[in-house]
Amino acid sequence: MPKLATALERLGTETAFEVLARAKALEATGKRVIHLEIGEPDFDTAPHIVEAAAKALRDGQTHYCPAPGIPALREAAANHLTAHRGIDVHPDSIVVTPGAKPFLFFGILATCNPGDEVIYPNPGFPIYESAIKWAGATPVPLPLTEETDFAFTAEDLKSRMSSKTKMVILNSPANPTGGYISKQLNAEVAAVLADHDCWILSDEVYSEMLWGGAEHDTIAGHQGLQDRTILLDGFSKTFAMTGWRLGYASLPEPLREPITRLIINSVSCTAPATQLAGVAALAGPRTEIDAMMAEFDRRRVAVVEGLNSLPGVTCRDPKGAFYAFPNVKGTGQDSRVVADRLLQEAGVAVLSGTAFGDYGDGYLRLSYANSMENIQEAIEAMRGLLEAMTA
Ligand SMILES: Cc1ncc(COP(=O)(O)O)c(C=O)c1O
Repeated sequence: MPKLATALERLGTETAFEVLARAKALEATGKRVIHLEIGEPDFDTAPHIVEAAAKALRDGQTHYCPAPGIPALREAAANHLTAHRGIDVHPDSIVVTPGAKPFLFFGILATCNPGDEVIYPNPGFPIYESAIKWAGATPVPLPLTEETDFAFTAEDLKSRMSSKTKMVILNSPANPTGGYISKQLNAEVAAVLADHDCWILSDEVYSEMLWGGAEHDTIAGHQGLQDRTILLDGFSKTFAMTGWRLGYASLPEPLREPITRLIINSVSCTAPATQLAGVAALAGPRTEIDAMMAEFDRRRVAVVEGLNSLPGVTCRDPKGAFYAFPNVKGTGQDSRVVADRLLQEAGVAVLSGTAFGDYGDGYLRLSYANSMENIQEAIEAMRGLLEAMTA
């Protein structure tokens, strides 16, 4: 058998998909499993968005289209960012891809050489570390700590910056912790970044999921940093469109052509009917989305209260996204063991915080993108096992 590429050893994965597969295998044996592992809204895409895509297909939007995206979506996305982020975004800066995820790879591949350092949040979305390593660059974790409500301090960042720092990745609101970066912290971060000639990748896919009065702020709005920030957003989370694969970024001028070239080399373009669905999403009514957000907020309160009532578990109030990140150190067990036993013995699929990096040790990630009934049932199933574990 011929050998595989050694470079594959540098490529990580997303444990959520592995746990989902294990949970499905368990379900196939007849066991009931409650899914709190996968990060996708359990709501269907709003009908007007579906109809826009269906109409586009009927109208013959079945061909290749411009690699950086169709003009209508680039314009709608620019208008959206301008209105929502309070920065001036031109349609020429917008590039569209199948999901926001490709920008993590393309952004890093287009900017980083072997030997360059990339600072990234840890615990954080696992693809950051994977993409950094794939590019041959060196990942430098920026710990997100419970003490700072799963943010960090400007000092933490500063101490990790060096002459080799080529990029800083920020994610707010954050997966997996539900933490966020306040305007005040962004101002302090911007002051640190102002002294360093590096790129910034600001992953803002949960920008519209903030709770308890927290407000979204983008690093691109500080100290002229828009000129070197890849600001990415998408439709998966806000519009419950994970399976459609649609995302976009506002790119600094020097990155537009190289990233478009990476698109041409890999996926050619994003399906035009999907892009027209995106236009409908950005321009259309917000009724379904507002209802979804209100429901997430209701579940967030229930999940945090439920988790804090469990033995050996404490959980901070997540300020954003749809994840809770409870501390399970009080169980006296490794969080990987807790996650595994919850799946096998209690039928509750969750992820160990270590799926998001070493600094996630001692935590679990629960996605509350599931019905209130299932969340309540999961909490009770967890209680049974955790009482036995901590007895
Ligand atoms: C922090 C973060 N960034 C990016 C993505 C990718 O989203 P998309 O479905 O738009 O590719 C996800 C999806 O889980 C995420 O959690």
